[in-house]
Amino acid sequence: MYIYIVEKNNFLLKENLANFSELEFVNEIPNSNYYFVYDTDGLSFIKDSTHPKEALNLDFLTGAVDWRMKRASHEGNIKKALGKSDKQLLIFDSTAGLLTDTLIFLSLGHKVVAVEQSKILYSLVKDAVSRAEKKIPELKNLILINDNSINAYKSISKDFDAIYIDPMFPISKKYIKKSGKIESIKKILELENLKEDSQPLIEIFLDTNYKKIIFKRPLKQRNIYSNINYQVFGKTTRFDIFL
Ligand SMILES: C[S@@+](CC[C@H](N)C(=O)[O-])C[C@H]1O[C@@H](n2cnc3c(N)ncnc32)[C@H](O)[C@@H]1O
Repeated sequence: MYIYIVEKNNFLLKENLANFSELEFVNEIPNSNYYFVYDTDGLSFIKDSTHPKEALNLDFLTGAVDWRMKRASHEGNIKKALGKSDKQLLIFDSTAGLLTDTLIFLSLGHKVVAVEQSKILYSLVKDAVSRAEKKIPELKNLILINDNSINAYKSISKDFDAIYIDPMFPISKKYIKKSGKIESIKKILELENLKEDSQPLIEIFLDTNYKKIIFKRPLKQRNIYSNINYQVFGKTTRFDIFL
């Protein structure tokens, strides 16, 4: 994997990219269809060199994520899914992705272990966390892991209050095109040859000794699992809760 270095002040970069075995740091645009760029905005990923402006860069300090974190107390559906409790919960986010949902859990005062299988997504998230941690103190309650979440869950063996599962939805090509971030995640998973788990994550976690599973689904998808205890409905998605 190439990393085009624009910003020379990059002492944290190597640490955030630790999970790549082959890395080539270059000082000009590499001759590759996809590559990382490191500049004053931190780490970005170019998934298609013919569209370098569509780079994926995460910033938790501005924009929609920052707005949602500051208004986390208004996240009624996530709060209902977590349930009423005054205590700080320990949540296992099995599908960290771009970390948005985990950032809401953290903003609500909880602790999170978040696991992402993609090395590219993990590196982008790790870099964004490094840039944000001085301004978002809740990030001290986050452990971020780059692994398959089943492996990570088995090796941690902590007593989690909730397991959160937000798999990629089977969504239309039209929707993917409209949602740039989902399109980027899809493309990145293809580049890394990360196929869907042979057995859905939900089924594997339903077989564990869980306290609560929160399973995010498209609103209208039919129930496949009969032992749902309650559901929380949003505008386009819902949470199926297993106790
Ligand atoms: C829809 S995205 C999750 C979005 C995330 N909730 C957010 O707020 O940004 C699904 C993510 O789960 C990851 N994933 C799927 N199966 C996984 C597994 N078995 N272990 C770790 N990560 C997994 C995918 O790589 C993808 O990044």
